[in-house]
Amino acid sequence: MSEVKYYEPKVYLSEVEIKARVLELADEINELYGEEELTVICTLKGSIIFFTDLIRHLKMPVLCEFLGTSSYGNQTASTGEIKMTMDVTEPLIGRHVLIVEDIVDTGLTLKYLLEHLKVRNPLSIRTAALLFKPEALKAKDLEINYVGFEIPNKFVVGYGLDYAQKFRALPYIGVIE
Ligand code: PRP
Repeated sequence: MSEVKYYEPKVYLSEVEIKARVLELADEINELYGEEELTVICTLKGSIIFFTDLIRHLKMPVLCEFLGTSSYGNQTASTGEIKMTMDVTEPLIGRHVLIVEDIVDTGLTLKYLLEHLKVRNPLSIRTAALLFKPEALKAKDLEINYVGFEIPNKFVVGYGLDYAQKFRALPYIGVIE
């Protein structure tokens, strides 16, 4: 086999740091909902690893749902307009809902999701984001109920996050320099 050169991003948040923080977030969520059933929505693709780690520490009955979003625009420029590319399969009416995001950057995706899911009349709807970039935020009045880490405006990959679809499987969060 020919030698494959693989660029290794510099560690920004280690596996150990992420694991500890995910546990803390799960504790907070457990405390709030108690034994109430919770529909947890994974926003594809970036949230897959955070979602699967988080739900394994939740103590209430959990229903797993998945949805997809993408921004309208071309490869290099987003119009800031979001569309849903895949929807959840179960009704949300009368349910406690938690939307799980890997990262809130401009916040436009999460804002869009909140607006589009609230009209389905869930009993409650809250949001969790592993990473939050306050400096990049554009969405107004966006409430993130659970934030793992506030980070500067750097390009991060790993633990679900990609660069051109690569690096999602890295067990840590790294920075591309
Ligand atoms: C990323 C990320 C969030 C969104 C955040 O998804 O997973 O969903 O962007 O950005 P925003 O706050 O500026 O809206 P992306 O569209 O890259 O898709 P992916 O999760 O499949 O990588």
